[in-house]
Amino acid sequence: MLASVLLSACLPRPDSAPGRLVSASNSAANPRPFASVGPTVAPADNPGATRPSTAAPAPSPGIPRAYGEGANTPPPDEGDTGPALRELATRTGKLIGAAVNHAVLPHKRAYREILAREFNYVTPENAMKWGPTQPRRDQFTFADGDAIVAFARAHDMKVKGHALVWHEQLPTWVKTLDAGALRAEMERHIRTVVGHYKGQLLAWDVVNEALTDSGGMRPTVFLEKLGPGYIADAFRWAHDTDPGALLFYNDYNTEGRGPKSDAVFALVERLKKEGVPISGVGLQMHITAQGTAASDVAWNMSRLAELNLLVNISEMDVRVRDVPGTRDDKLAIQRRTTHDIVAACVAQSHCHAVTFWGFSDAYTWVDGFFGADDPLLFSDDMHRKPMYFGVQAALTGR
Ligand code: G3I
Repeated sequence: MLASVLLSACLPRPDSAPGRLVSASNSAANPRPFASVGPTVAPADNPGATRPSTAAPAPSPGIPRAYGEGANTPPPDEGDTGPALRELATRTGKLIGAAVNHAVLPHKRAYREILAREFNYVTPENAMKWGPTQPRRDQFTFADGDAIVAFARAHDMKVKGHALVWHEQLPTWVKTLDAGALRAEMERHIRTVVGHYKGQLLAWDVVNEALTDSGGMRPTVFLEKLGPGYIADAFRWAHDTDPGALLFYNDYNTEGRGPKSDAVFALVERLKKEGVPISGVGLQMHITAQGTAASDVAWNMSRLAELNLLVNISEMDVRVRDVPGTRDDKLAIQRRTTHDIVAACVAQSHCHAVTFWGFSDAYTWVDGFFGADDPLLFSDDMHRKPMYFGVQAALTGR
């Protein structure tokens, strides 16, 4: 949160927070109403300006203070603020999503109420990753992910699982396996986790961040021991386990033009040619407010659309820490950038969802990784920011 420097005098902090800177198969048999949120792309057809995740980010400093504090605080009444984002997104046939922090969800009423009111799509921020779901070999644990799925079901939201194969939040035991055992364990992990949620999730991020910023294959344990074919294998095992789920390749610094974006395009083009069951690409969109041209994002989306792939803006947050000017200047630029990128999705029929990586500045991975910032739609104390109204405008074509 950028707030302790620029905002602490301006916004109330009811939580007494310490200052911080800021088709499925599309077949009739498929119960998931994907057809309403984008073009027809059968599943079987198918994340900052610098890297957001090669080193383990510090846990969000917002999490500890969430326990017990303000647990029963309702969201602030801000008068007439227009229709909720999910209502507007539904009208445009899009999904509007947020990553969910499983540690905050049970403890904060305002968090739950805003999540349910504003979003129709959720992604567990951490709860379905390999580390949290299988911390020890052969010991699976789904309670945190199950709680998010139950919340989503109760509030008529879709869920995207995240992320099956990723070199981070990967337990040590996985990294010590030899090639044969790693391949077997990767298959078992995918089949077990996807199988646990079979029929309940709209989509999965199957492979996450497999490329480097210069466009090469990232030298992960998977690449080094299994070779590049691990990507296709992961998609095939996921599809085989839940044929109704949309399956995504998800990465950062791939939103606009550049070598990594080109590498993603080449990768998914090849997967499509090989008949690998990939449905789409997640453009994470961890960006700075002045770093990404919406026109470049639109161009990149359209070349992916030409492959008949879906596009999901999958982890959006918009940093303002280094934007010059007053706090109002920063938030105005943040609003404009966010508006223009969401508008690019609205204009692209193959862009079916925009997901933010959280929704309140109080709970963002950004603070722990890039330094205190205010990258999300709601302030620390859950007031709508200008960025929120930028999304509202984009969803209504303004
Ligand atoms: O849950 C443990 C807790 O038990 C322990 O006491 C604490 C001590 O460090 O750590 C907690 O786990 C942390 C976890 O977040 C939950 O807070 C991990 O250390 C921390 O590394 C983890 O960070 C997550 C990060 O992925 C992992 O690399 C962030 O919350 C999450 O926002 C971030 O999300 C990624 C996407 O999955 C992929 N794209 C990039 C994006 C941002 O890095």
